[in-house]
Amino acid sequence: MKTGVCYYPEHWPESRWADDAAHMKRLGLSVVRIGEFAWSRLEDANGTLHFDWLERAIDTLHEAGLEVVLGTPTATPPAWLLARHPDMLALDEQGRPRGFGSRRHYCFSSRAYLGECARIVTLLARRFGQHAGVIAWQTDNEYGCHDTVLSYSDSALVAFRDWCAHRYTDIDALNEAWGNVFWSMEYSGFNELPLPVGAVTESNPAHRLAYWRFATDEVRQFNRMQVDILRAHSPGRDITHNFMGNFVEFDHHIVAADLDIAAWDSYPLGFLARDDADAGDRKAYLRTGTPDNAAFHHDLYRGCCNGRWWVIEQQPGPVNWAPYNPAPLPGMVRYWGWEAFAHGAELMSWFRWRQAPFAQEQMHTGLLLPDGGEDIAAGEVARVNEELPLFADLDTKTRTAPVALLFDYASDRAQRTHQPGARAHDPLTFAQEVHATCRRLGVDIDVISTSADLSTYKVLLLPSATIDDADLVDRLRVYAAAGTTIVLFPRTGSKTAEFRIPEALPPGEFRRLIDVRVVRVETLPPTERPQAETVTTHAWRECIESTLEPMARFDDGWGFHYRDGATHYINAIPDRHGLLALLEPILIRAGLEPRDLGAGLRIRRLGEVSFAFNVGPDNVELESLLPDSAGLPASGPLLIGERTLAVGDVAAWSRPASSDHAKPELDAGQKLQV
Ligand code: GAL
Repeated sequence: MKTGVCYYPEHWPESRWADDAAHMKRLGLSVVRIGEFAWSRLEDANGTLHFDWLERAIDTLHEAGLEVVLGTPTATPPAWLLARHPDMLALDEQGRPRGFGSRRHYCFSSRAYLGECARIVTLLARRFGQHAGVIAWQTDNEYGCHDTVLSYSDSALVAFRDWCAHRYTDIDALNEAWGNVFWSMEYSGFNELPLPVGAVTESNPAHRLAYWRFATDEVRQFNRMQVDILRAHSPGRDITHNFMGNFVEFDHHIVAADLDIAAWDSYPLGFLARDDADAGDRKAYLRTGTPDNAAFHHDLYRGCCNGRWWVIEQQPGPVNWAPYNPAPLPGMVRYWGWEAFAHGAELMSWFRWRQAPFAQEQMHTGLLLPDGGEDIAAGEVARVNEELPLFADLDTKTRTAPVALLFDYASDRAQRTHQPGARAHDPLTFAQEVHATCRRLGVDIDVISTSADLSTYKVLLLPSATIDDADLVDRLRVYAAAGTTIVLFPRTGSKTAEFRIPEALPPGEFRRLIDVRVVRVETLPPTERPQAETVTTHAWRECIESTLEPMARFDDGWGFHYRDGATHYINAIPDRHGLLALLEPILIRAGLEPRDLGAGLRIRRLGEVSFAFNVGPDNVELESLLPDSAGLPASGPLLIGERTLAVGDVAAWSRPASSDHAKPELDAGQKLQV
């Protein structure tokens, strides 16, 4: 568990670098990320390279005992490069270029830009790939930030047609797969295919889903090009990319498969201020962030690269880019650090070292003020670093969570791609609600892909498994037979991979897990909240045909919640209280010990340590609230924190081994069938 900071030596006089490095060390930091936006200082319009300053910067940091993560500068192509390749820009939906003057002004499909990136990455990797101070590389910066995954440029059109020709082989197969006979949308050759933009009304959802898949492959190819070069010239160094929060514009499992470490950028207060966040949460957690949003991403990215993940950018104070940017409650900078470590982060790195007195991010705080004095965050970071040695021997790798949430990006996209009418229900938000409910019940939960190892879990939750997936169902059946609890939510198996309704009706193949058939779907305005006994639902409701008796009924007679053994089908979207009421008995039946921790208290077990976090509204007495499985010792001091846990504070203690969540027992024969 290391801490670090993002630093821009090119923003400051060279005479300051050594002092900065020494100051970082004094705060206990050990890793520094640099270089990711420095292209205009690395190469000039005449093609002359200026790598010496970067070498001196790396040397300075290295000599001070700091480890460097070097970014490739491809998110910020300089003006001269754009002049050379005016076609490298992405075009927006109206066909307007996403022009120069900020960052991320490139189209993933521009072959010319890909070539320029390969060139600069090769030069950097050759020069710095074996530098003793460079421990890792970051490719580019936040793929997709500022809405930059999709582009409607000519290069994107050409690449998309090629991609379709490759996927469908002949045009009739594409027409058949997409159902293009509808509205005479049939094409007679791949060269007629448009991008799914500018049609009179909605374009074919199969076309849009294909374009999203294509975009994922473009990002993967762009990233892969850099990874291949870095691996060739910089052996032994880890390669990462900094992904974002609440972002599903491409399939992160696919892109992350080429990386060693999945890093992400965590801005809890900025994310909460975004327009579509729950209004109650925005008020309650204005200065802390919600109890679960960062944790969801920690768990999600932990599931991307075999458990290796970082927070490479962490909010240190007010940011500059949200609709409003409140100051965190004192203590939150430390809290966010511990929250990441409690989920197994190898690195927590704050953004940024010193607040910039110029350009776009002047209102974004850092660890230091623009004049070099320490801002509030610096003290909190130093405190984390003083506490870290207490956990030096902690096993951060072994998975102990008894519950997994299966998150599938293509399924999430399939729901978003759907026709108007289902908008009230956001699949990512719902997955986050399900995750948050488990956490509120004091149960640890992983977020994994549908192809991950499922063998260690007692409960598998599938909040948005939209795409009908026979292989996944085959695997789930093995675990269901062994007693694993499986919970399917609305829209499971409701679309084939090519966005059709499955022949046997939803949930398609998943019907091999539980005998339900969706014969009608209704979507509802926010004013309507159908009640099934104690559970209030909203947005989406399915009418089920089944040989099973429903566990409850709506007033109009529709059944709700079907169960066969330990497999459940939930056929409407429960609200937060409804989710608590539903999941608590399911977890108890699965042999777990859920306990409602209330709105703001959360626990997380890692190795033999339990951590507790409190974002309010009040201080809490841990003794009276925690389940036995948290293993709070009856007396004596805790590793960190107090038994009365203040708002914005964290506590941690060693847990007796016996209190661990028991693992499910699968015998060798059952595992072999997987
Ligand atoms: C991130 C980005 C950083 C910086 C930061 C400000 O999205 O990667 O470069 O702009 O936001 O909060």
